[in-house]
Amino acid sequence: MDDDARAASDGVVAPGAVADPSPAAPGGSSQPYLEVDSVSIEFRSAAAGPAGRISVLEELSFSLDRGEFCCIVGPSGCGKSTSLRIIDGLEPASGGQVRVDSQVVTAPRPDIAFVFQQFNLLPWRTLLDNVAFGLDNLRLPRAEREERARRWLDTVGLTDFAGYYPSQVSGGMQQRVGLARALAVEPRLLLMDEPFGAVDAQTRMLLQNELLRLWEADQKTVIFVTHDIEEALFLANRVLIMGPRPSRVLREIEVPFGYPREDHIRGDARFAALKDEIWTELKAAMTAVPPAAEAER
Ligand SMILES: Nc1ncnc2c1ncn2[C@@H]1O[C@H](COP(=O)(O)OP(=O)(O)O)[C@@H](O)[C@H]1O
Ligand SMILES: [Mg+2]
Repeated sequence: MDDDARAASDGVVAPGAVADPSPAAPGGSSQPYLEVDSVSIEFRSAAAGPAGRISVLEELSFSLDRGEFCCIVGPSGCGKSTSLRIIDGLEPASGGQVRVDSQVVTAPRPDIAFVFQQFNLLPWRTLLDNVAFGLDNLRLPRAEREERARRWLDTVGLTDFAGYYPSQVSGGMQQRVGLARALAVEPRLLLMDEPFGAVDAQTRMLLQNELLRLWEADQKTVIFVTHDIEEALFLANRVLIMGPRPSRVLREIEVPFGYPREDHIRGDARFAALKDEIWTELKAAMTAVPPAAEAER
């Protein structure tokens, strides 16, 4: 596989024509936009013996309405990235199903995009070409492709850096390119796997503000995995806490702050109380002993 193809298989995938989903039925009685329905997955694991399998997700279920910003926190190794890959259609579940707009997800689809912690930029392409790369499969006329790439590069504040190469810009700027590349395909569901994990704390806060601004502008549905509880509370309207393996949702928290989010909510007493509550739950999950049955089968 060459690097372009690898980057493509890493989730910068082939948008094609997709019908606009119908708007929610009046009265809010429609199906949720995203349904993760009793999803289970197990992997072969050498650590679990020659025929060993490790159960990573067991009946993971949650649903989101269109336009929600959901953050997922959970112990390291509990299956957060695996969950996103299953939702993206990159990994088949062993049981259960994911439905987006009532359609079962069986493969990557044009209306779902993925942003990774590792920026996955192609080092030999300029920033503009990296954004345009995500559009290769849209089969847009060349001028329109470039116009769209430029527009998204502008949106993330990198107008003056279009001709730079990834190695010439900071980590925060590289992640802006990663974000622009995912947004340029104009997905409806954005999956983000610890996207700001590799940037410094100040840049991270700026990126959080930018992401919210972009999200508020067109109300995509976002699932954002983070190990940072404060980040989860600042961004999300709903936080899901995942438990230890085999993992499922331990708890859902509705965040009581509206949008646009102001920086000062970080100092709000309710923010601190929720942070404590989530940390207490997480700490218990992190110290839980994995089930002894894991090595069986
Ligand atoms: N393709 C795979 N084959 C075998 N084990 C896997 C595979 N993908 C993930 N795992 C295992 O599944 C568990 C969950 O991984 P992951 O989803 O990356 O966790 P998280 O993102 O929550 O840290 C880990 O123990 C990991 O080693
Ligand atoms: Mg992960």
